[in-house]
Amino acid sequence: MADSAYGTFAIGGDMTVDRLGFGAMRLARNGMGDTDTRDPETARAVLRRAVELGVNHIDTADFYRSPDGTVLANDLIREALSPYPDGLVIATKVGPIFGPQGPTQGTASELRAAVEANLAALGLDRLDLVYLRIGWRGPPHGESLSERFELLAAMRDEGLIRHLALSNVDETHLAEAQSIAPVLAIQNLFDPSNPDEVALAHRAAEEGIAFVPFGPLGSGRGSARDQAYATIAQRHQATTAQVALAHGLALLRNTVAIPGTESLAHLEENVGARSLTLTADDLAALS
Ligand SMILES: NC(=O)c1ccc[n+]([C@@H]2O[C@H](COP(=O)([O-])OP(=O)(O)OC[C@H]3O[C@@H](n4cnc5c(N)ncnc54)[C@H](OP(=O)(O)O)[C@@H]3O)[C@@H](O)[C@H]2O)c1
Repeated sequence: MADSAYGTFAIGGDMTVDRLGFGAMRLARNGMGDTDTRDPETARAVLRRAVELGVNHIDTADFYRSPDGTVLANDLIREALSPYPDGLVIATKVGPIFGPQGPTQGTASELRAAVEANLAALGLDRLDLVYLRIGWRGPPHGESLSERFELLAAMRDEGLIRHLALSNVDETHLAEAQSIAPVLAIQNLFDPSNPDEVALAHRAAEEGIAFVPFGPLGSGRGSARDQAYATIAQRHQATTAQVALAHGLALLRNTVAIPGTESLAHLEENVGARSLTLTADDLAALS
């Protein structure tokens, strides 16, 4: 692994990842609502270069597909990287089932089928990390996840999954899941102005759970902090995106970033954030 100002995090104590990873959602299309298919050859080149640069944590899902469903992020990952290098952690998500009416919760058999589809497309006998992703836009407060998490726990006991995780959840969901099986990562849209999200991220840090904020670059839409990031970037001869990523990593020791891109230039830039150390003054200006 290349030198990094932010080091590594051991997910579950036994899957050590560089804290700057890679999100695969942008490989087949630029976000779930985009109507264009991206170039598979470029996507495979980005994946290979990411691993060359020391990325050893890739976040994916079976539902990261082109608009016509023919190009799958999981296929691109297998084609570009299999046989996988030692130590590469591939995390995936199951939960939403996409039908003509949009995403639904799906049945138990659909959840199992989603795990099996990930195994087949990635060419694996066991998935490293599987998030149960619930709700759609925001965390579905008050919705029980027990039945679905029990099913995933059973698949873990069968040997199909190494570690379990949650996505788009609140603290009540975390407690509910932990009464069934250990939760080793949480992937939420982190909003530092939302006290509930901050409390959840801190609880994760206290319990040694990886906190994986999605959209670490504002999902391509930028963020309210961009002007402040740009000012700091100028001082460090860095870019706004690099400061945004370094800030996320500096906030909490259990944060693992998964910026997504299908651009080789953006990939190089994002991985470059590993060598950017923000000063106490920078962090104070951003607080
Ligand atoms: N659990 C969930 O519900 C959930 C939801 C959303 C995402 N995710 C995960 O989180 C990952 C990251 O989320 P995300 O892709 O939505 O957001 P993001 O990483 O914040 O932003 C990606 C967007 O920023 C652009 N970009 C990337 N690097 C850039 C740079 N250096 N300069 C300028 N623009 C840049 C990308 O376009 P280009 O491709 O053109 O560079 C893309 O449009 C996803 O890949 C996925 O694995 C999970």
